[in-house]
Amino acid sequence: MTHAHPRPRILVLGTGGTIAGAARSRTGKAYGAGEVALETMLDEIGTLELEAELAARPIARIGSQDIGWKEWDALHREIAAAQADPEIDGVIVTHGTDTAEETAFLLDLTLPAGKPVVLVGAMRPSDAVGSDGMRNFANAVRVAGDPESADRGVLVVMADTVFAAADVRKAATANVDAFRGYPRGPLARVTPSSLDWFAPTHRTGSAARFAWPDALPRVGILTAGAGMDEKPVEALLGIGCAGLVLAGMGQGNAPQVVIEALGQAAAGGVPVVRSARVDEGMVDRNVEVDDDAHGFVAARALGPAKARVLLMALIANGITEPKRIQLAFDGR
Ligand code: SIN
Repeated sequence: MTHAHPRPRILVLGTGGTIAGAARSRTGKAYGAGEVALETMLDEIGTLELEAELAARPIARIGSQDIGWKEWDALHREIAAAQADPEIDGVIVTHGTDTAEETAFLLDLTLPAGKPVVLVGAMRPSDAVGSDGMRNFANAVRVAGDPESADRGVLVVMADTVFAAADVRKAATANVDAFRGYPRGPLARVTPSSLDWFAPTHRTGSAARFAWPDALPRVGILTAGAGMDEKPVEALLGIGCAGLVLAGMGQGNAPQVVIEALGQAAAGGVPVVRSARVDEGMVDRNVEVDDDAHGFVAARALGPAKARVLLMALIANGITEPKRIQLAFDGR
């Protein structure tokens, strides 16, 4: 794919986050996410003399802990329109880092591969000493403007590193290099003046995997802890969860009473996905837990946050049968 324009034209959709955060102290700890308007950020970005034409559209000015259906729906609509607009070569979404993996994965599941779509954030507020926001943004421009970024699905750019949405997670609370990829690591290294790809795209086919729904169902995450009982399962079912994700111990395990309660939920038609509260690794079928007997789905390489996103997308598309859900997790 080559660009129609000598300088790539990039649409910037702003949602807030620490990249738009202000501490009003260069060295203080406390700050507010999303306090800096997108236009103000663009003024500073203008001083970087990037080789791109940027057009900005604010979606929200919030910390990403508050992101949800309203912002996702707006982002999906804007990006789908940009994918179809010959005047736009790529899209950047500025986003908080706390839920970047969820937004990136949801968009990746529901958008065609096509033009580059890049989520970027920062770990330090814009006015902090050593702030990473402008560098991450300059890197995102390089990625969104590179024809080689096309057909790779949604990408996340942090700390000079490019990840695929399906792999990326926030793995540290405060380091600048807080993001990791699993099971695939970085796809590329990027600086404001260079971009080196060293992994092929894993997207198969250019179509969106799932249709964008009218709403997303309530899916609860249950974190297992030693000595817990089945009451939290009952509570989640009591508030009408249409699906449950277990963030289990080890390979997605839980006390027997919890497993039994989850098995009853699955038998009653509520899909149950077993993932791990451990930071990284596979959760396979029928290892310590008998998934066949309980009607469970194994999350495989997805952690709880992304397992919840995939389960929401599946249920919203009418896919509730464990075997079909398992296929989606196997091929995520
Ligand atoms: C947020 O996710 O909005 C706050 C944290 C961050 O962006 O790093």
